[in-house]
Amino acid sequence: MKQSEARERINILRKEITEHNNKYYILNQPEISDFEFDILMNELDTLEKKFPQFISEDSPTRKVGSDLTREFSQVIHTYPMLSLGNTYSEEELTEFDTRIRKTISEPIEYVCELKFDGASISITYRNGALFKAVTRGDGNRGDDVTLNVRTIKSIPQKIKSEGLPDEFVIRGEILMPRPVFCRLNEERLKAYLSPFANPRNAAAGTLKILDPKIVASRSLDCMIYFLLSEELLFDNHFDNLKKAKEWGFQVAESIRLCKSINEVFQFITHWESERKNLPYETDGVVIKVNSLHQQQELGFTAKSPRWAIAYKYKAEEATTRLLSVAFQVGRTGAVTPVANLEPVLLSGSTVRRATLHNADQIALLDLHLNDMVFVEKGGEIIPKIVGVDQSYRNENSSKIEFITVCPECGTTLVKNEGEANHFCPNYLHCPPQIKGRIEHFIGRRAMDIDGLGEETIDLLFNKKLIVDISDIYDLKLEQLVNLDRFGEKSASNILKSIKRSVEVPYSRVLFALGIRHVGETVAKTLSARFRTIEDLINADMEQLTSVNEIGPKIASSIISYFTDKDNLEIIKRLKSAGLRFSDEEGLVKTGNALDGKTIVISGTFLKYSRDEYKEIIERNGGRNASSVSGNTSFILAGDNMGESKKEKAGELGIPLWSEADFLKEIGEE
Ligand code: IVH
Repeated sequence: MKQSEARERINILRKEITEHNNKYYILNQPEISDFEFDILMNELDTLEKKFPQFISEDSPTRKVGSDLTREFSQVIHTYPMLSLGNTYSEEELTEFDTRIRKTISEPIEYVCELKFDGASISITYRNGALFKAVTRGDGNRGDDVTLNVRTIKSIPQKIKSEGLPDEFVIRGEILMPRPVFCRLNEERLKAYLSPFANPRNAAAGTLKILDPKIVASRSLDCMIYFLLSEELLFDNHFDNLKKAKEWGFQVAESIRLCKSINEVFQFITHWESERKNLPYETDGVVIKVNSLHQQQELGFTAKSPRWAIAYKYKAEEATTRLLSVAFQVGRTGAVTPVANLEPVLLSGSTVRRATLHNADQIALLDLHLNDMVFVEKGGEIIPKIVGVDQSYRNENSSKIEFITVCPECGTTLVKNEGEANHFCPNYLHCPPQIKGRIEHFIGRRAMDIDGLGEETIDLLFNKKLIVDISDIYDLKLEQLVNLDRFGEKSASNILKSIKRSVEVPYSRVLFALGIRHVGETVAKTLSARFRTIEDLINADMEQLTSVNEIGPKIASSIISYFTDKDNLEIIKRLKSAGLRFSDEEGLVKTGNALDGKTIVISGTFLKYSRDEYKEIIERNGGRNASSVSGNTSFILAGDNMGESKKEKAGELGIPLWSEADFLKEIGEE
């Protein structure tokens, strides 16, 4: 390769890798598998070694991918947080061992640990108490997520133990157990939110939520793998971890001390299949030199220790034939292409279908009918097609084209700028969208109507007995009995259940409407802030986005829902059926300490969440405002208060009240 070509390729790779890092660490929405990412990184590394004139401190080969975000304050790591060199090959692992033996003449012990796939965390303890928890960030500085980490049960808040160092840093991986992940995704799907691709993204995303209460509800867990202190008790990693376990930290049972590289290979082979029985995702094995003074002798490269390496398991892959491509329309109208495949065995199960994501993906793969394709199953991600074996391509086979009209209702599909999916815009009349909304509406966590399964809904819909959710309340006994599916008894039970559902509280009714991006939590937040449906219908962008957790995406979805006159008609009918569309009795005044005061809340708090404070303000006669103005009586200022609000308050001379001041004022110490 010529110099100029190398420079160009290096620039392209750096740009691509930086973009993928951003998708992985900031957006928690990776687009390529770890394996594909590592291939790009490897290519860049090789080129930089061959053309050292292009080496730059800015290159992703020299920096760790950063998870820093604007919402949290940043903390400098006492000990930088490095990354690990990794490999997929046994030979390279043997080379790692050989390299170490060249530097160290004494016998070497390795500690083998599973490589947990979550988000790394660094927690500082002072005098036995949890002091600060910080994400990896860019390796030198990380985001302060202490309040969120305090909600994790397997991380002790206080430690009592003799000989505990006055200060130490403990590091580990924040994880979401698979069952919790599955439940969370089910809820997200029901709420029309896009599901997390895998438990890692869910864990990393949860760690960066601004409300610790929501974090607490997500049952995160933490596996500890590293202890750092000026006053360590042992001169080796293994004993230090055992000590950490005695202090109450969770250290994996699987950790093992190995006397030779052969034992390391045995560990790797054993866990390759066994790891699938664990409740956590793992993507490899970390091999560490046990002795701390040997570690010191080996030292570090720019971004990783020389005394440790990660051996990564490859996602399993199979080759099979593409039989056809089907296009599915989901409840939100999103169209997903799905590949029908010749059945093939892949990591223990038969794969018949694989997702093709969207039109871009089909174009990228240059997919033709009857192609031999590579299918991969990695983590929780549904099998996907990662490539085409061109050597089997039949010249006459036709190229797969994305459809232009909805396969369910014939409406021309649309694709919004910046979104990957095509959508069927026929929200009101496209059958899978209507049926999806009805199923959502009667769901257990929504209106909780028993006895109407998917098939019954199909039937009622096909017979035009239910055309939208409000028709449910007009169903008659004869209509149900005439369906031949029900006896009189079960039909009347359904009607009873429908009747009972009018008692469901306002926040659940809001959730049941199936407004895009309005899940259970958002519905609760909305119902607390806008106590009647009229208040919500009349709310504008500014009022909506001033509510914590409501961003412009959710706000514009709400506005567009209530702008549609068919939706307003449905609400009118539901209202006359007796459903609850207000929660005014929910606001009971508990005091008048804040009568006539206009208050702006800013920052994060310890005792209550921001939304709870908003409610407390109303209960005590105060009024919430979103921006600081001459009318503001005071600002309830928590940690990390926004800079612009602080400045404005200073200019206008508006007092800042601490959480404690505020609680005192309303008579709560
Ligand atoms: S040791 C200097 N041990 O993998 C040593 N890391 O690619 C630092 N990880 O950022 C890490 N399981 O988030 C270590 N048993 C384990 C691990 C582990 C998962 C993660 C960690 C780290 C990344 C490195």
